[in-house]
Amino acid sequence: MSLDTSHYWMPFTANRQFKSRPRLLKAAKGMYYTAEDGRQILDGTAGLWCVNAGHAHPKITQAIVEQAQTMDFGTPFQMGHVKAFEAASSLAAMAPADLNRVFFCNSGSEAVDTALKMALAYHRMRGDGLRTKLIGRERGYHGVGFGGIAVGGIAGNRKHFGPALSGVDHLRHPLDIKRNAFARGVPEHGAEIADEFEQRLLALHDPATIAALIVEPVQGSTGVIIPPKGYLNKLRAVCDKYGILLIFDEVITGFGRIGTAFAANYFDVIPDIICCAKGLTNAAVPMGAVIAKQAIYDEFMSRAPENIIEFYHGYTYSGHPLASAAAIVALDVYREEALFERAASMSPAFENAAHALRGLPHVKDIRNIGLVCAIELEPRPGKPTARAYEVFERCFWEKNVLIRTTGDIIALSPPLIIDEAQISALFGALSDVLKTTH
Ligand SMILES: Cc1ncc(COP(=O)(O)O)c(C=O)c1O
Repeated sequence: MSLDTSHYWMPFTANRQFKSRPRLLKAAKGMYYTAEDGRQILDGTAGLWCVNAGHAHPKITQAIVEQAQTMDFGTPFQMGHVKAFEAASSLAAMAPADLNRVFFCNSGSEAVDTALKMALAYHRMRGDGLRTKLIGRERGYHGVGFGGIAVGGIAGNRKHFGPALSGVDHLRHPLDIKRNAFARGVPEHGAEIADEFEQRLLALHDPATIAALIVEPVQGSTGVIIPPKGYLNKLRAVCDKYGILLIFDEVITGFGRIGTAFAANYFDVIPDIICCAKGLTNAAVPMGAVIAKQAIYDEFMSRAPENIIEFYHGYTYSGHPLASAAAIVALDVYREEALFERAASMSPAFENAAHALRGLPHVKDIRNIGLVCAIELEPRPGKPTARAYEVFERCFWEKNVLIRTTGDIIALSPPLIIDEAQISALFGALSDVLKTTH
C-alpha cells in the first residue's frame, strides 16, 4: 500500500522514525485492533488508557449513529439539548460525595485548564483574589494546554514554552524505588513526602496565596506512580487547613481503571474538583468534564447577578450531542456490565502476571494497581528510552501486542474486559521480548 505520510504532523510521535516504518491500525473490536497488514493486535493499553469497555462497543456506536442522524450539533451557549443534561446527571451520579456539578469540554487538557480557571475564579468571586498560585507535582501530566503544562511536571513538555508558566510551584513526586521496589498495589513507604506541601511550599509561598493543588491520584503518563499509604489523606488535610482547593486529575484513573469509579473512591479521599475525559465516552467521541462540588457551583451562582454569565468559559463543543450521547451510554455500559467490579476482580491475576516479570533482564521495578501497571527498565547507558522503545516495536511487529512506553518504563492498561487468557498472552509476549532484548 502506498501512503503519503508527509502531510500529517503526528502528535507526541517521533515523526521521522514513525514514517520510516509506519505502524498503522485500520480497525478495532473488543480487545483487538486489526493492523493495516491484517494482523490482530492485542490492545494492552486500552487505546491510550481510554477504551475501558473495549473497542467499538455496539451500544455506544449505535448511540452515536442515531444522534448524528437526529441532531449533529446544537449551539451550547445560551441554548441546550436534553442529552447534555442527561450526561451530566449520569456522571454526577457516578461521582463521589457531593461532586455533582459538571462542566463539559473535549479533552483531558481542556478539563484541566477548565478546573484551574474554575479554582481561580472561585476564590476571586468570594473576594479572596490573593489566591492566584497553583501547585502541581513533579512528573505530573495534566495535558498540553498552557495551564496543564504549567502545573505539569514533565520537563520536555515545558521547556520550550517558558513565559506562560509563571505563578506555579511543584511538589516532589512520591516514587521511591529504593524503599518500595516491586511493591504490590499501594506502596508502604513515603506518606511523609506529602509533608513538604505544608512545610516547604506553603511556608515559602504563604498559604493564603494558593488557589489549588492539582494531582493525579495515581500518576499515569510518567510511569504509574502510586501514592503511598496515607499520602493523599495528608494532602487533603493540608488543603482543608488552608482553604486550598484540591483537584484530582482523574483523566486516566476515572471510569474503573483501578477498580472503582474514580481513584477518589479507591483511596477514600474526596477532592473538591475532578477532571476526567478518556473513558467518559469510552473514547468513541472526544469529551472531557470537570466535576465540581456543589458548593463551588453554588458560590458562582450566588455571587453573580442572575442575568450575567457566572463563569466566562466554554467551548463550541461543550456537551456536543454526539459526545453526550456516547457518554450516557458508556456510563450505562460500565454499570450494566459491572466493568469497574470486573477490573477489581481481575486485578489479582493482572498483578501476578506483572510481577512474574521480576528477575527478567533489565527489570528494575514493577508497580501495579487495578488494571494498570508499570515495568521499569534500566536504561541503556547513554541511550535513555532506546531499550523500552525497542521492546515496544518488537511487541508490535513480532508479538502482535500493543504496549505503551514512557521513557524506559512500559505501562500496561488494557480494556477492563480483558480475560485471564488475554492477560497471559499480553505478559507472555512481553516476557519473551524482554528475555531477548539486550
Ligand atoms: C492525567 C491526565 N491529564 C490530562 C491528560 C490530557 O488529556 P488529553 O490528551 O485528552 O488532552 C492526560 C492524557 O493522557 C492525562 O493522563
